[in-house]
Amino acid sequence: MHLTLYRKYRPMDFEQVAGEEDIIRTIKNSLKKDRMAHAYLFTGPRGVGKTTTARLIAKGLNCITNGITDTPCNTCENCRAINNGTFIDLIEIDAASNRGIDEIRSLKDKINYQPVRGRKKVYIIDEVHMLTKEAFNALLKTLEEPPGHVVFILATTEPDKVLDTIISRCQRYDFKPLNFLETKAKLLEIAEKEEVSIDEESLRLIYERAGGSMRDAISIFERLVSTYFGEEIDVDKTEKALGVIPKRFLEKFLGILDKRDIESGMEFLDELWENSINLEGFFKDFAKYLKENSKEIGIERCLFSIEKIFDVLSKFKYEEDKRLLGYVVLYHLSGLESIKTSVKTVPVVEKVTVREPQSEPISAIQISGEATVNIQEVREKWNEVVRVAKSKKITLIALLNGATPLRVEGNVLCVGFTYENQYSKSAMEKPQYHEVFLETVREVLSSGLDVRYEVVSEGRTVEKSTDGDSFVEKVVEFFDGEIMS
Ligand SMILES: Nc1ncnc2c1ncn2[C@@H]1O[C@H](COP(=O)(O)OP(=O)(O)OP(=O)(O)O)[C@@H](O)[C@H]1O
Ligand SMILES: [Mg+2]
Ligand SMILES: [Zn+2]
Repeated sequence: MHLTLYRKYRPMDFEQVAGEEDIIRTIKNSLKKDRMAHAYLFTGPRGVGKTTTARLIAKGLNCITNGITDTPCNTCENCRAINNGTFIDLIEIDAASNRGIDEIRSLKDKINYQPVRGRKKVYIIDEVHMLTKEAFNALLKTLEEPPGHVVFILATTEPDKVLDTIISRCQRYDFKPLNFLETKAKLLEIAEKEEVSIDEESLRLIYERAGGSMRDAISIFERLVSTYFGEEIDVDKTEKALGVIPKRFLEKFLGILDKRDIESGMEFLDELWENSINLEGFFKDFAKYLKENSKEIGIERCLFSIEKIFDVLSKFKYEEDKRLLGYVVLYHLSGLESIKTSVKTVPVVEKVTVREPQSEPISAIQISGEATVNIQEVREKWNEVVRVAKSKKITLIALLNGATPLRVEGNVLCVGFTYENQYSKSAMEKPQYHEVFLETVREVLSSGLDVRYEVVSEGRTVEKSTDGDSFVEKVVEFFDGEIMS
C-alpha cells in the first residue's frame, strides 16, 4: 500500500512529536500518574500535531503491555489497532463533515457502554467548532457528567468559535506552528530514512512555504522527492519546483520602487509576465520580503506596501489578466499615488470657489506664446511627458503605452498610435484624457503646443505595444469606471 509520507511518519510515540514540549511533557506526566482529565481541547493551526497527540493519548490509555503509560508499546493488539485506525474504542468524529445533532445524540446513547477492548473509550472530535448549535448543546450535557471510562479530546483550528461553556469544561492546550529547527530536524530524519539528500536552503524554503505546518512541510518535501526522484535536492531545484521567486528579483523590484521609476517597473513586470512568473505569487513573496526586511526599509513603508498589495490582490482575485494587478500595485507602491494627490492645482483666475483639481476645465489655463519646440526636443522630453501625464491620471499608463511623437506641424504636435492601439487613440481624443495630456505637454515643454492624435500606417511602428484593445480597455475600466465607445 502506498502511504503518503506524512501518514507514514506520523509519530508513533510522544518522543517523535516535534515541538510542543510543554504540552507533551504535561500529558506524559498525567499518563504516568494516571491522572488524565476527562476532556481536553487542542487548539492550533492545521497540521501541527493535534490529532496525532490525541491518538497517542488513546494508545497511552489502552496499551495492553504497559498499562496506562506514557510509553505505549506499539506492538500489542490495542496499540497496533490504534496505529491502523481500527481500534473499536477510539471514536473519531469529524465535525466538519458530520455537523449534525444525530452524531452527538448517538454518541450520547452509546457513551454509557463500557469499552469493548480497551480501558477507556476515547472520543476525538475534530474541528469541533463546526458543530451546529444543537449539537454543541448536546455535547455540553455529555461533557458535564461523562462516565469514568470516557475521555474526550476536542480539536479545533478556530477556538474562538467554540462556546465558552465547552472550553471551561476542558483542559486546554494551544498547539503552535512549528519553528524552522523543529521542521528541519523532522524533515532530515525523514530524508535519511527515505535516502534522499537535501540542502539546508531547500529545507528553509519548504519551511517558509509550509508556514509552520508539519503536515504541509512533509507534503512539500514529498512532492520534491517525487519530482526529482533519485536526485539530490538543492535550492535551485526547490525554487523551481515551488515556483519561488529568486531573491534578486525582489531586490530589483524594491530598487525600482525606491527610484519611483515607473517605466522600468512596467518593463520589469512585463518581463516577469513573459517569463510566466505568476504575478500574484510574486507580490505575495514581495510582501514577505518587505516584512523580513522591514527594519532596513522602514516599518511604516512596509506596512503601507503590504496592505496595498493585499488590497489589490483581493480586488483582482477574479481578474484573468494579472498584468493589470501588477501595474496597479506598482502605481500604489512607487508613491505615484502621493505624487498624484499632491499635484498642484491649476491657479483659478477669477473665481475663488474651491474645486476638484481634476474637474478644472483646461481652458482656465492661460497659455501665451507660440510653439518654440521642434520634434527633436519633444522626443528628448517625451519620457518626462509620459511620466508626468501618468502621475496626473493613472489611466494614461495604459493609453500612452503605444504612443510616439511623430512631428510638429506649425503649432501642433502629432502623436502616433499603431493600428493595434487605435483604441488608445480614440480614447485619448476624449476630453478627460486629452485635456490632462495637453496640459502636461504644455507644462513639460513650456510651450503653447496643441496636440493631435493619429494612427500610423504599417512600417512606422511604435516601440512597444500591449496585445490589443481589451487590455487597455480593462485598465480604463478599472480606473475610470467606463468603457469608451
Ligand atoms: N508536531 C509534530 N511532530 C511530528 N509530526 C507532525 C507534527 N505535527 C504534524 N505532524 C505530521 O503531520 C501529520 C498531520 O498531523 P495531525 O493530523 O496531527 O495535524 P492536526 O494538528 O490534527 O491538523 P488538522 O488541524 O489539519 O487536523 C502527521 O501525520 C505527522 O506526520
Ligand atoms: Mg487533526
Ligand atoms: Zn501497547
